[in-house]
Amino acid sequence: MKVSFLASEAIPYCKTGGLGDVVGSLPYSLTSLGLEICLFLPFYLDIQQKNLPLHKIAELNGRWQGKEIKVPLWESKLSPFRVVFIQNDAYYAREGLYGTPLGDHPDNAERFSFYCLFSLEAMKTIGFKPDIIHAHDWQAACSLAYLRYLYKEDHFFKSTRTLFTIHNLAYQGLFPPEVIEKVGLPAQVFHWKEMEFYGQVNFLKAGLIYSDAISTVSPTYSREIQQPEYGYGLDGVLRERSSVLFGILNGIDQSIWDPEKDPLLPFHFNSQDLSGKRKCKEELLRYFKLPTDLIEKPLAGIVSRLANQKGFDLLIESLESLFSLGLRLVILGQGEKKYQDLLLDLQKEKRNFLRVKIAFDESLAHLIIAGCDFFFIPSRFEPCGLTQMYSLRYGTIPIVRAVGGLEDTVVEFDPLTLRGNGFKFKEYSTQALIEATKRALAVYSQPNLWSSLIKQAMAADFSWEKTAQEYIDLYRRIQKF
Ligand code: ADP
Ligand code: GLC
Repeated sequence: MKVSFLASEAIPYCKTGGLGDVVGSLPYSLTSLGLEICLFLPFYLDIQQKNLPLHKIAELNGRWQGKEIKVPLWESKLSPFRVVFIQNDAYYAREGLYGTPLGDHPDNAERFSFYCLFSLEAMKTIGFKPDIIHAHDWQAACSLAYLRYLYKEDHFFKSTRTLFTIHNLAYQGLFPPEVIEKVGLPAQVFHWKEMEFYGQVNFLKAGLIYSDAISTVSPTYSREIQQPEYGYGLDGVLRERSSVLFGILNGIDQSIWDPEKDPLLPFHFNSQDLSGKRKCKEELLRYFKLPTDLIEKPLAGIVSRLANQKGFDLLIESLESLFSLGLRLVILGQGEKKYQDLLLDLQKEKRNFLRVKIAFDESLAHLIIAGCDFFFIPSRFEPCGLTQMYSLRYGTIPIVRAVGGLEDTVVEFDPLTLRGNGFKFKEYSTQALIEATKRALAVYSQPNLWSSLIKQAMAADFSWEKTAQEYIDLYRRIQKF
């Protein structure tokens, strides 16, 4: 079976969040299970600057906005599946995949519809005739609109079926109606049953309407998004398509996130011998210039985009109480300026308890996830979340809000039965967060309980091998549609 993957990021080429991890790692498992995958990516500046072994495979002749254009296609031999880059320097050779700290790139509608259209063209040019087009999130969703309207009669895609995966319903790609003509879609898409959404054009909705099936990244989130509270205005559309809406839990790449081998860690460990984890904690304290005699005190970490989704308002409101419980906190994050500023101000006030690094730093992310005792994820909503799974692998106990994939992966630890791997709270309130933290600290203070909790956490298996098969089953099912 041939599957085209369309997504705006994938490790090791480009990443801003979990989408990059998932799109870069799922195809490995699908490939090892016998599928032929071709991933299409925009040829961002980030990728051009990485000095990767890439070569130009073709130059495609196309039409865009009334002009004849040439679109170079590049290929990487780094991955065991095909990865093709669509070049358009005017659109992609700039800082930031989606924008800069000052805001989104103003031409994102054109940038990502160009990517969608020319990924379809690239499939024809390189002769990769997909059985399935698997498009991810709003940036790739327009491919399904083009397929529906521009390639309807095209023999090449005659037996192609489509799956659209929602990684985050909150980002929809909303643009003024004028973009429809600019990106070469027919005017009829601007209809409430298609891409129109409260007077704007909604790219993500193209993925929901024109796909054969829809999936999202955890079973709980697949139910939540059909409710107004989490549906971001699209719950009605999703309810209407509920018979073809599936929730498949993300996996993690356990070869990258392996505490025994992780090349980004200064020390290694496993559940039998945690001495390397203690050394990582020491290293982390040193990194943040916290006294190393805090080694015996509980240390919590956060590695996150600084976005409204991630519950920073709740966390910030709870900090005073958390610190009074004796907890220290280190935060690595990047994103909305208001959170960056707030956290940096708080750091000044609470230097003995809080350290903040505003950056995107892969090595530090690994060190925090390995070196901390606890990992906070107080999200308002969380389609899946990967950092709780990485933390569990590294024996770092998650304290999370019980939503989306966090609900599906973290099981409240029960000190009586010794079952469970973390601590959860349901209500979006400081009180609920603080109560969960108190339960966590109570276990931390009892070495026997604590060590059985860590063992349990590290034993969890979130490998892709388990869930890649679910995608294959779904592809097979869609092929029969
Ligand atoms: P989301 O995709 O909503 O951001 P996930 O938990 O699915 O959340 O994935 C986040 C990914 O991005 C993880 O791999 C995490 O380690 C990484 N990440 C987030 N912020 C940073 C940062 N500032 N530096 C390094 N890695 C980060
Ligand atoms: C999104 C979600 C996150 C999920 C990731 C990968 O960015 O916010 O919860 O883990 O996509 O699917």
